[in-house]
Amino acid sequence: MTTPEASAQSEKNRVVIFDTTMRDGEQSPGASMSMEEKLELAKILEDMRVDVIEAGFPIASNGDFEAVREVAKIVTESTVCGLARAGIADIERAAEAVRPAKRGRIHTFLSTSPQHRDYILRMSQADVLDAVTGSVTHARNLCGDVEWSAQDATRTERDFLRRCVEAAIRAGAQTINIPDTVGYTYPSEYAEVFKDLIENVPGADQVIFSTHCHNDLGLAVANSLAGVQAGARQVEVAVNGIGERAGNAALEEIVMALRVRADRLPYWTGIQSQHITRASRYVSAITGFPVQFNKAIVGKNAFAHESGIHQDGVLKNAVTYEIMRPEDVGQGGSNLVMGKHSGRHAFREKLKGLGYDLGQNALNEAFGRFKDLADKKKHVFDDDIVALVDDSLARGQDRIQVKALRVIAGTEGPQEAHLTLVVDGEERSATATGDGPVDAVFNAIHELAPHGAVLRLFQVHAVTEGTDAQAQVSVRLEEDGRIATGQAADTDTLTASAMAYVNALNNLSARKEKTAPAPIVASGF
Ligand code: KIV
Ligand code: ZN
Repeated sequence: MTTPEASAQSEKNRVVIFDTTMRDGEQSPGASMSMEEKLELAKILEDMRVDVIEAGFPIASNGDFEAVREVAKIVTESTVCGLARAGIADIERAAEAVRPAKRGRIHTFLSTSPQHRDYILRMSQADVLDAVTGSVTHARNLCGDVEWSAQDATRTERDFLRRCVEAAIRAGAQTINIPDTVGYTYPSEYAEVFKDLIENVPGADQVIFSTHCHNDLGLAVANSLAGVQAGARQVEVAVNGIGERAGNAALEEIVMALRVRADRLPYWTGIQSQHITRASRYVSAITGFPVQFNKAIVGKNAFAHESGIHQDGVLKNAVTYEIMRPEDVGQGGSNLVMGKHSGRHAFREKLKGLGYDLGQNALNEAFGRFKDLADKKKHVFDDDIVALVDDSLARGQDRIQVKALRVIAGTEGPQEAHLTLVVDGEERSATATGDGPVDAVFNAIHELAPHGAVLRLFQVHAVTEGTDAQAQVSVRLEEDGRIATGQAADTDTLTASAMAYVNALNNLSARKEKTAPAPIVASGF
């Protein structure tokens, strides 16, 4: 196994990691993120040394605009990017949103394929070329760093794609992204597109080419790597591979493929890979999208060895069946960590080891909850602590809080929930019945905090093994087109359910209405 240190780390082989979890990832149905969640994720991505964070699509809504702007204010190391269609209003809104960033980027795009030109844009090739020049020029006048994307590039006529890329370079784009928007290409074909552009477009040697692959045929990671081998030096990715439809190339898979196979893929990234698992868990928690057990790199089973032969091999030497170390991606495994006698200092050190650097208030809050958990649960594992801290961070300054819950469940229905909530500082209690204990709990919440939201997702999973494991619950609610996810962890599944539902309600009321951008793509150029 060759480490990145062993491969030549010249600038020419440096691959820029562009994370679009908060933009393309957020376009996954139901994956919308609140401003607080985006800010927290931005911190994790920055800790991980992601080069570019695409924080949203500022024209899409005031919420998206503000989220990009707030991320731009707090991120100091990574470039913060906002997406814009090829329209004046889009570009100006994106420029405004990234203005506070130490390093800001406008990412503007226009469709180039015949399918999109004819059916969406109703524009001729000449119109598209003019709009590319106009949009990139306008963006460059407002921001020093501009990326241009040829939407649906892989279904675009090659000669026309070359002309579009040339126009974007001439107008001042420094990064040229070649998206496989519909997940249609395959590795050797995608590599040919990059080779063709790099060899034949004037000025190609002055810009960075970028991959952006969707996973409709399960080829997003393979295609991205083929793009890198053909000369691309930026890869667009999303944590856990989330994104439109089947998603984007997964950050963790691209980073670790480049790292583990540096012998054959002599490229390197600046990513601190030990933050990967934390990012994966956080994204899963805030979106409510579970990570499949056998998911490469971040799945629960990614480093589990079940068969006797494998276990025997790993015990003798891990290299027998492990091509990377779990700790390289921040998978500490479920090692027993602490108990109720552990002190605050040890707790803080443990958190640091898990990638958390909490302020004093957040630390005190998390420590208090850890002590409560240690009272209830004999063995507290790393995964328990991660769930507990993420849970505390998600809760923030909630308007509605769960004070007390008692549930009568069992074979004789109806099940009954006695619930006390604190709503805007006022304590309210109610008893409700339901078709099962969870239904009873949710009905009681409805009585105490009336709302019109519809439950879209209710999901429970055990954080660790054993009957005393914490239940991690995700709830997604929808009201008038607004979607919010809430999560909570507790050793009591019903308490976690109540807290997750209430957390989703809090997030919902905090969320500004998000309007889908109209499909117009070019105006004013
Ligand atoms: O898939 C795609 O084409 C995109 C562009 C906006 C870059 O997400
Ligand atoms: Zn995309």
